Amino acid sequence: MKPIKHPLTLFLIGATGDLAKKKILKALYTLHQEGLLPEIFNLVGNSRKVMTHHEFEQFVYSVVQPKDESEWKKFAKSLYYLPGDVDHRQTFEQIRSLHESFATCGNHLWYVATLPSLYIQTVRHIQAARMGKAPCGWTKIMLEKPFGTDVASAHELDEALTSVFKEDQIFRIDHFLAKETVQNLLVFRFANGIFEHLWHRNFIDNIQVTASENLGIDGREIFYDQTGTIRDVIQNHVLQMLAVTLMDEPKSLQAQDVRQKRHEVLANLRPFELDQIDRDVKFGQYIAGKVNGNIVRGFLEENHIEPHSQTETAAALRCFVDSDRWRNVPIYIRAGKRLESTVTEISIQFKEPPNAMFSELDRVQRGNVLTLRIQPNEGVVVRLKVKKPGLHLQLNEVPMQFGYRNEFQMGLVEAYVKLIYDAVQGDPTLFPRSDGIESSWHFVQPLLDYKMRAKFRPEAYKAGSWGPSSFTQLIKQDKRQWIQPSVEM
Ligand code: BG6
Repeated sequence: MKPIKHPLTLFLIGATGDLAKKKILKALYTLHQEGLLPEIFNLVGNSRKVMTHHEFEQFVYSVVQPKDESEWKKFAKSLYYLPGDVDHRQTFEQIRSLHESFATCGNHLWYVATLPSLYIQTVRHIQAARMGKAPCGWTKIMLEKPFGTDVASAHELDEALTSVFKEDQIFRIDHFLAKETVQNLLVFRFANGIFEHLWHRNFIDNIQVTASENLGIDGREIFYDQTGTIRDVIQNHVLQMLAVTLMDEPKSLQAQDVRQKRHEVLANLRPFELDQIDRDVKFGQYIAGKVNGNIVRGFLEENHIEPHSQTETAAALRCFVDSDRWRNVPIYIRAGKRLESTVTEISIQFKEPPNAMFSELDRVQRGNVLTLRIQPNEGVVVRLKVKKPGLHLQLNEVPMQFGYRNEFQMGLVEAYVKLIYDAVQGDPTLFPRSDGIESSWHFVQPLLDYKMRAKFRPEAYKAGSWGPSSFTQLIKQDKRQWIQPSVEM
């Protein structure tokens, strides 16, 4: 990575929010430590919280917890803060005045990390305050998923965005695409000659995606109650990971080729018919249970949650991609909060070999499984059948695995570091394209409509379990079972 050359001002809207604390500020500090930020760099934070520049500096200090004070002092010099509501145009006028007081002229990056319901006003106010165009340099905007809350609002957001910015100025973030392990999918599939010809309905029985967390919704209650699992992770992270897993080989590594192939998968997702949803989609909501040995309360007992909320905190579904390569290969997805463990992985279950030679000796009775472990304990595991040593012929399933931690004596680059860097450098490869986002909304829209029905109620599951029994039934009805997360690496 080459250092960014030109002067840059980054306007961080939602600068004291959950995402800024968890990811963005740390990523910016990493870029600073790595010497990648330009010599002239300003970070202007904004949120509703009233703070001075100095208090913001202390806040950022507490978030990034710098080890080296002299490094920190250099970074701290670039920090500014302006409190204000994004609902008020005046906030953006003040941001402009503050910016005009800087003796620098360069590029502008807006990073919008507020509640998604505030995006449209934010964009309109950026334009109204004449901040949509930097006087000497480019202006870009980064926004966090979810982009809208359904097909119609996603469309509206896109219209608002594209009325102010050109497509190549807009960077829609789905940080899963920038995870090392998701980036590795492309290399793993296309740089090795041994998998690609098997990556086909003729050889693959089913695909399973687990994106589970044992965490709850601490500090994000209002957002989560408005959002639910389908909108929070399935419409975006899960579908984007699927797109990379199932896409055809792109012509090149150029952004337009890679994004086009990802888009084709999303455009080929088979739409749900309303009358199939009962069978193919299950919604859960956690009740009190035990997580890591601690008793935790149920969703309805969490602070700020509507007492009769019907928000799903987990979901499981079966879907298909109607392309030549994947037609009729079931894809099972389960995701959500307060599930048994925090793990994201994609398992490809191959068909059993056609010979019947070992069928009586095979206790596992399923084809080989290749698991792409996205996080944690990042790596790849293939479950193979081998002869168990002994006088008798017995079959055992054993893992053959590669773990990042054992193999590379270095940490993985945090997705947000890569994304901010790529947005500044103008590389959109790891950002979802708007038509792909639209296809994903079309895919989940029937599920959102289904949730609006008067009789809809998510099924209760105990916090710390793998969801309600219907999650097991969903896959059992096809005479299959969930592949348990792969062994520790
Ligand atoms: C976010 C979701 O986009 O991704 C969260 O809103 C989820 O609910 C998070 O916890 C998971 O991301 P990561 O990188 O922490 O696994």
